[in-house]
Amino acid sequence: MTTTAVTTTAVTTEPVHAEAAAATDPATAGATGPGSTADLERRIAEDPAAFRVLTGDRPTGPLHLGHYFGSLLNRVRLQDLGVDVIVLIPDYQVITDRDTADRLGEYTDGLLLDYLALGLDPARSTVFCHSAVPALNQLMLPFLSLVSVAELNRNPTVKDEIAHSRQSTVSGLMLTYPVHQAADILACKGNVVPVGRDQAPHLEVTRTIARRFNERYGRVFPEPDIMLSAAPLLLGTDGTKMSKSRANSIPLSATADETARLVKGATTDADRHITYDPDARPNVSSLVLLASLCLDRDPYEVAAEIGGGGAAALKRTVTDAVNGHLAPFRARRAEYAKDLAYVRSVLRAGNERANALAEATLDEVREAMGAFR
Ligand code: TRP
Repeated sequence: MTTTAVTTTAVTTEPVHAEAAAATDPATAGATGPGSTADLERRIAEDPAAFRVLTGDRPTGPLHLGHYFGSLLNRVRLQDLGVDVIVLIPDYQVITDRDTADRLGEYTDGLLLDYLALGLDPARSTVFCHSAVPALNQLMLPFLSLVSVAELNRNPTVKDEIAHSRQSTVSGLMLTYPVHQAADILACKGNVVPVGRDQAPHLEVTRTIARRFNERYGRVFPEPDIMLSAAPLLLGTDGTKMSKSRANSIPLSATADETARLVKGATTDADRHITYDPDARPNVSSLVLLASLCLDRDPYEVAAEIGGGGAAALKRTVTDAVNGHLAPFRARRAEYAKDLAYVRSVLRAGNERANALAEATLDEVREAMGAFR
């Protein structure tokens, strides 16, 4: 089976407009200075083998085009640079904001198929899931002792998730979610975490825990760097952020016909002439952007070409662009889907490696804390 990666040209990290954000975002501290994502990219290019990426996708639905341009292509790029890429399927964390973990097996199979079809190579990269790595989960206990309830209560991303939760009460797991995420990253000693801006407060918790542990017990953990995605946000077909669980996304695994139907149903606006103007025309511009990302072309040019053709022509362009771009990916995905035994063996091997890493880390933690062994 082929593991050739699709083109990664659409992905770069940290754009020029990072300056504006840097002033308010302590996680990025300057667009090009020490600690910035641009600086991180330079260090990775110099010595890729010194870096281990830890990232993940909750198994709550199929991956979509927002993930693809926002994070998936970047993982393959890092793998191909020679970075050790570890992808976590955080199955335990699914019950953070819902009562039951529905269709966990199905969604996990789907994630594995997507990763393999994208070109994530099991010989170089690792995929594992929470529930298979007990030592990772044991780090929760010492880590919880290193953060205060006030700090947990202040986390803006947790607050936001609580506000949008479908649950009537806030669980302890919800409040301590960033601590569990720290266990994910630090159990594997990941030192680079590529995530969206909303995850920056969580990464600060990880860095705080690593620093406090090292200060109190001696150095065990790296203080991981955040790698912010520069990919522009794609809107869902309803005009809100494209999301796995909102039924407004175009899944990577959709068929060409399903894609056409989803694009057809996308919200546009009353102005017949198509332009690219993300501020004034977010819905139309997001569709133009999607086409231009798939075609690897300038969005202004794509919009100008459609011009008076209106929303119908725009949607035809988007559908053809998405289906054309994803055709090789979807063909590879269908091949892997014929061999689920192989696909699941990739996860088993990944779980084994993650267990070895997490057990070694837990041993160091016990040793540093002077525990009985
Ligand atoms: N919190 C991440 C999200 O919701 C998923 C995640 C869990 C993760 N553990 C992680 C990401 C560790 C990076 C590193 O998208």
